[in-house]
Amino acid sequence: MKISVFGLGYVGAVTSGCLSSFGHTVIGVDYSETKVALINAGNSPVIEKNLDQVIAAAVAQGRLKATHDAREAVLGSDLSLICVGTPSKKNGDLDTSAVKSVCAEIGEVLRDKSSWHTVVIRSTVLPGTIRDIVIPELERASGKKLGVDFGVGSNPEFLREGTALDDFHHPPKTIVGARDERTGKEIASLYDGIDAPLLVVPIEVAEMVKYSDNVWHALKVAFANEIGVICKGVGIDGHQVMDIFCRDTKLNLSPYYLKPGFSFGGSCLPKDVRALVHRARSLDLDLPVLSSILPSNEKQTTRGFDMIVQAGKRPVSILGMSFKAGTDDLRESPVLELVERLIGKGYDVRIFDRNVSLSKLVGANRDYLFRMIPHVSSLLVESLDEALAHGEIIVIGNGDAEFHSLSERIRPDQFVVDLVRVRDFRKLDGQYNGISW
Ligand SMILES: NC(=O)c1ccc[n+]([C@@H]2O[C@H](COP(=O)([O-])OP(=O)(O)OC[C@H]3O[C@@H](n4cnc5c(N)ncnc54)[C@H](O)[C@@H]3O)[C@@H](O)[C@H]2O)c1
Repeated sequence: MKISVFGLGYVGAVTSGCLSSFGHTVIGVDYSETKVALINAGNSPVIEKNLDQVIAAAVAQGRLKATHDAREAVLGSDLSLICVGTPSKKNGDLDTSAVKSVCAEIGEVLRDKSSWHTVVIRSTVLPGTIRDIVIPELERASGKKLGVDFGVGSNPEFLREGTALDDFHHPPKTIVGARDERTGKEIASLYDGIDAPLLVVPIEVAEMVKYSDNVWHALKVAFANEIGVICKGVGIDGHQVMDIFCRDTKLNLSPYYLKPGFSFGGSCLPKDVRALVHRARSLDLDLPVLSSILPSNEKQTTRGFDMIVQAGKRPVSILGMSFKAGTDDLRESPVLELVERLIGKGYDVRIFDRNVSLSKLVGANRDYLFRMIPHVSSLLVESLDEALAHGEIIVIGNGDAEFHSLSERIRPDQFVVDLVRVRDFRKLDGQYNGISW
C-alpha cells in the first residue's frame, strides 16, 4: 500500500519505519525540517531501540522518505495516517489543533485528487473528535463528501516508548474504527501478518478504547502506589503483597468486576474499603484513590435513584434486592439503599426477590434489613407477577435469570430502569433506561 504518515514524532516515526518494513511504501510528513532531514538521511528522529536500523533499511530500499509537502504526500498515497501530537491545554482539555490543521491540509489536496483516499487518525483523540472535527474539516477543505470521495477511520496506537518496535509487532490488539466496511478492511489490511486480535468497531468506540486503556493503566499505577504507601505505613513489604495480588488472575487481573453496572455492595467490599481508608487516615496517610472509591460508589446509587425519579412515574417495583443474584445477603445492598431513598420520597414500592424470605433471614443479615426498612414485610411480594402488576416503573436490581426474558410482559404504561444490563429489555424503545448504557 502507499501510505502517508503525518507527524514524525514517536508514533509517526515508529509507524513509518515498521509499515515500510512490512513492504508498504511510506511518505512521512512533518513541518520540522530536522525530522524530515533525519529520516531522509536514514536516521530516526526519536530515540527508540532498533528504530535507526529499521529506518535506515527502509530509506535505502526506497520504501521510506520524508517531506514537508502535504500535497506530494497525499497525491503519492492511498491512505494517510495522522500521528501528530494532541497535548493538554491549560484547562486539561485536549488540544486537537494539530489534527485539525493536518485535516485542512489533506482536504485541500483532496480537492484536486480524483481517486479515493482514506484518512486515519492514529493520534489519541477524545470520542467524537473524528465526527465533530476531522470529518467536517476534511469535507470543508476538500469540498467532497465522506463515503463518496474519501473514507475516515480511527486506529489508536498502543505502543510504549522504549519497547515501541516490539509493541508494534506484537500489540495487545489492533483496533480499527470505521463507519463502512470498505474503510475498515483497508485499515485492517495495513497490519496483515501481525498476530494480534483485530477488532473493527464504530469510530467512537475505537476512540474511547484508547482512553479506557490509558486511564486504567494510570489507575493501576496509582492503586499500586497507594497500596505500597499503606503497606509501608504498617511495616509490610508492598511488593510481596502486590506480587501475590498479581498472581490472582481469577478475580484480580481478570475481566471480573470490570463491566459498567450498579454500585457494589455486600458484606465485604464496602466494609473493607472503609476499614482500610480509616486505617490510612489514622496513620495520617493521604490516599486519594482509595478514599474516592466509596464516594464514587455512592454516586452510582444516586444515579440509579435519579433515573427512577426522572422517569416521572409511580409506583415502583424492584426485581432483585440482594446485591447479586443467587444470594439472600442484603448487607449493604445498594438496591436496599435505593428502596430506602424511594420510601423517603413517598414512593409506593414493592420488592420481589425469590432468594429473600423474611422467615428464613437470620442474624446480621436480618438485623440489617429491618434497621434499613422496618416495615419491609409490607413491601415484599411473593411472586414476579405481583411485582410486574404493581409498578409503573420496573427496576431490575440484580441479574437473576428469571429477569432476563421479561420484555414481552412490560405494559405500554410501564418503564424499565435497568441497573444490570439485561439485553432483552433493550428492545423496549422509549420505555427503557440503563444505568451506564
Ligand atoms: N508517545 C507515545 O508513546 C504514544 C503512544 C500512543 C499514542 N500516542 C499519541 O499519538 C500522538 C502523537 O504522539 P507522539 O508522542 O508521537 O507526539 P510527538 O510530539 O512526538 O510528535 C508529533 C509530531 O507531529 C508533528 N506535527 C505537528 N503538527 C503537524 C502538522 N500540521 N503537519 C505535520 N506534522 C506536524 C510535530 O512536528 C511532531 O514531530 C498523540 O496523540 C499521542 O497522545 C503517543
